[in-house]
Order: sequence, then structure tokens, then C-alpha cells
Amino acid sequence: MSAIDNNTARQNAGQNRQLSINILRYDPSDPASRPRMQEYRIEESDSMTLFIVLNEIREHQDPTLQFDFVCRAGICGSSAMMVNGRPQLACRTLTRDLPNVITLAPLPFFELIGDLSVNTGKWMRGMSERLQVWLHAKEGETDICRIEERMDPDIAEQIYELDRCIECGCCVAACGTAQMRKDFVGAVGFGKIARFRLDPRDARTDDDYYELIGDDTGVFGCMSLLACHDVCPKSLPLQTQIAFLRRKMAAQGLG
Ligand code: SF4
Ligand code: SF4
Ligand code: FES
Repeated sequence: MSAIDNNTARQNAGQNRQLSINILRYDPSDPASRPRMQEYRIEESDSMTLFIVLNEIREHQDPTLQFDFVCRAGICGSSAMMVNGRPQLACRTLTRDLPNVITLAPLPFFELIGDLSVNTGKWMRGMSERLQVWLHAKEGETDICRIEERMDPDIAEQIYELDRCIECGCCVAACGTAQMRKDFVGAVGFGKIARFRLDPRDARTDDDYYELIGDDTGVFGCMSLLACHDVCPKSLPLQTQIAFLRRKMAAQGLG
């Protein structure tokens, strides 16, 4: 019987596990604060997520604990954190899928606000501005009175697929290159470029994209080990898109 089946069987028999939740605590705004691990003990309940765990700790044990949640449904991207060393969304993580000793830490790479809370939004905004991740319309100003243009359903589907990115930062937190260079655009950046490159309404050419990602802060800094692909909670096709962009940009560089 697997550990998960064991946990389910134990819960069905009314024997709840005692969880040991070990959290990296640190408040960079407090000069007296030092990074330390703090343990909290909590009884596991049915269908318990890490969102529930952290809220119970904050409500009943420690109101100073900092962490982020908005949607609780894997949509807003704000609950990403390191769970036993792996970046994932806490709101979508069931404790029954984890051992009874759980270690939580903030995502690396991003600016730490405090404890488990990091400022992914600031980095995402900077990356978006740098890569100009908005439509550069072929026909200048948008005329809202015109009839909408038709789009090939296959292309629309591929664009929709990439637009599912929730900017959670898991791919960047798992990325070896990003840990070494802060100016790396990360898989999230490649996904955005791939999205606009697919869009027939966008006027930009591969020459323009090469200017944005044709160096070591872009595709040529990527080591292609694909941790980003493995951890993306939305299962975006990062592997395919990174390989495709790399080939296109390499050809552009030679051309
Ligand atoms: S590509 Fe995936 S892991 Fe990266 S920010 Fe988007 S949803 Fe999160
Ligand atoms: S494949 Fe590239 S973007 Fe993805 S984790 Fe590895 S270095 Fe980072
Ligand atoms: S709270 Fe929104 S993704 Fe987890």
C-alpha cells in the first residue's frame, strides 16, 4: 500500500496524523530578525490543504506568520512556496500527499517580504516590461467599431494554452540559471514570447524577438534541464516552447 493510500485508510478509520510543519521564518524589514526554522504541530483533517494548515496556524497558534493566498483555487498564483524542497501551490497541495513532517520555505529568487511571502508581482512586472508582453498590433490603433478578425482555431487554442500561465513563479524558483543570474527571463518569459510569436495580429518578427531573448539572459542562458516544465502547476507546454524558441533564435543568430 502506498503512503498516500495509507494516509487515506488512516483518515477513513478516524486516525488522524499529527503533522509537524517546519517553516522558515524571517522578516527582512526587522533588523533584529534572523532566519530560523519554527515548528508547529497540527492534527491532520480530511482533505486538508496547506492553505488550511497555514490558516489554522495563523488563527490558533501564531498570528505573526506571513504567507499569501487570494483565490485558494490555483488561479491567482500567489500561494507558491517551497514544499519539502519543491516549488508548488500551497492551496492545491493536500497534506495526505505529503509525509507527516513538512518543511515550508519561501520561493527563492524573488524579493522576500516575510516568512513565506515573496514579491513575485514586482519581478513579473519588470520581466513583462522588458519583454514587452503586450500585443504590438499590425494595424496601429485598435478600432473597436470594426468587426472582430477571425483566427485559426488551432492557433487560438495554442495561444489560449500559453495564456493559462498564472505567474506563480514556480518555474523560476526551480530554474538553475535563474538562481545564478537575476536578469534571466525564465520559462515564464519564454512562454510569454512564444504566446505573442504565435499571435497573427502581432507585428513583431523573429529579429525583434532575438533582440529580446537572443542572449544569455534569454534562450542561450537556458540549460534545458526542464525543471520549469516539471514543476509548472498549470502543466504548460514549456519544454516544447523552449526548444522551439531556442531553434528559432539560433537560426536568427546565424542568419
Ligand atoms: S509558466 Fe507555469 S510555473 Fe511558470 S509562472 Fe506560469 S504557471 Fe507558474
Ligand atoms: S529549462 Fe531553462 S528555463 Fe527551464 S529550468 Fe532549465 S534553465 Fe530554467
Ligand atoms: S491561492 Fe491562488 S493560486 Fe493558490
